[in-house]
Amino acid sequence: SDKQRKDVRVWCDGCYDMVHFGHANSLRQAKALGDKVIVGIHTDEEITKHKGPPVFTEEERVKMVKGIKWVDEVVLGAPYVTTLKVLDQNNCDFCVHGDDITMTAEGVDTYHLVKSANRYKEVKRTAGVSTTDLVGRMLLLTRNHFRQGSAEYDIEKEGSSNMGQESAAKSRGPVVVSSCRLPKRSYSSVMAKSPNPGDKIVYVAGAFDLFHVGHLDFLEKAKKLGDYLIVGLHTDPVVNSYKGSNYPIMNLHERVLSVLACKFVNEVVIGAPYCVTEELLEHFKIDVVCHGRTPIALENGKIDPYAVPKTRAIFELIDSGNEMTTERIVERIISHRLEY
Ligand code: CTP
Ligand code: C5P
Repeated sequence: SDKQRKDVRVWCDGCYDMVHFGHANSLRQAKALGDKVIVGIHTDEEITKHKGPPVFTEEERVKMVKGIKWVDEVVLGAPYVTTLKVLDQNNCDFCVHGDDITMTAEGVDTYHLVKSANRYKEVKRTAGVSTTDLVGRMLLLTRNHFRQGSAEYDIEKEGSSNMGQESAAKSRGPVVVSSCRLPKRSYSSVMAKSPNPGDKIVYVAGAFDLFHVGHLDFLEKAKKLGDYLIVGLHTDPVVNSYKGSNYPIMNLHERVLSVLACKFVNEVVIGAPYCVTEELLEHFKIDVVCHGRTPIALENGKIDPYAVPKTRAIFELIDSGNEMTTERIVERIISHRLEY
C-alpha cells in the first residue's frame, strides 16, 4: 500500500537573463501550485539563436536562479519550445509560465505542446519590471523610477551630500544632522520568520542595486558567519549620494523585493540608516556586522559607517571572491547596446 502522497513537481523554464523580482515572483507562484519547483534554463547558444546573446552567461544565470528561495532544482539546457519529453525526464506534472505570450524566432508559441496536452498553468506576470525596462533605465540614465515610490525617495529634493534618512531627507536645506547622531528611531523590516533564541545574528547593509551574482556570493558567505541574516537597504537618496549619476537603477521598493527572494536572507530592513549605530545593534540584537571588499564611502566624507561595530570588535570583512558589481553590469549593457 502506497499511502505516501507523491510530490507535485512543477516545471518552469526561460532565459532568466538579468534575474529580477518578476522572475522570483513567478517562481513563488509556481511553488504555491505544487511541492517542488524545477527550473529549466536555456543555454547561451539556444538564446542567441532565438533572440540574440544574453547579457549574463549560463553559469551566472544558473547561479542566480539557484539563489531564489522557492527553487528546488535547476536544469541547464531546457529546449526553447517546452516538450512533454523534458517534463517527463524531470518527473514534472505540469509547466508554469507567466501570462505573456512567448514565441520562437519562427513565431511558434513556445508552450503549444504542453498546452494541448493539458500540462500547462499560468501565473500572473509581474507588472513594471522586465529586462528590457531595466536596460532602458541604464542606457537612458533616466530617474523616473525614483518617482514611482513615495515622495520620500524623490531625489530632486535631496542635497548631494545628504546621507540622512527620513527626517533629514525631507528637509531641503543643507544637511546638519548626521544619521549617526540621530536620536532613537523606529525601523521597518520584513522577515519570513523571527530568529530562534540563541541564534547568532549577522547584519550587512548596502544598496543591493540590480541584485547580482556578486551580492549572492557575498550573502552566502555572510550567512555562514551566523544563523540569521539581516540585510539593511539604504534609501534611494542615500544610495544616490554615494553612487551618483542615476543610481540606484532599482528603487528601494524593488530592491527590497529582490533581496527578500534570496534564500540566504532572513530579514530586510527597509531604508536602513547609513551608519551602523549602537541603537541599531541593540534593536536587532546583532552579533556580527560585515562588508565585502568594495570601498566603504564615508558619511559626509568623514564618518566611517562601521565605526561602532569596529570599536566593539564585531566587524568582519568578507571576500565574496566575485568581481561583479552594479557598475559592471551597466558597462556590459552599454557595450552590448547595439543588440537591444
Ligand atoms: N516573468 C514574470 N514577470 C516578469 C518577467 C518575467 O512573471 N516581469 C516570468 C515569465 O512569464 C516566465 C519566467 O518569468 O514565466 C521566466 O521568463 P524569461 O524567459 O526569463 O523572461 P522574459 O519574459 O524574457 O522576461 P524579461 O523580459 O524580464 O527577461
Ligand atoms: O555595492 P552594494 O552596496 O550593493 O554591496 C553590498 C555588499 O555586497 C557590500 O558589503 C559589498 O562589499 C558586497 N559585495 C561583494 N562582492 C561583490 C559585490 C558586492 O562582496 N562582487
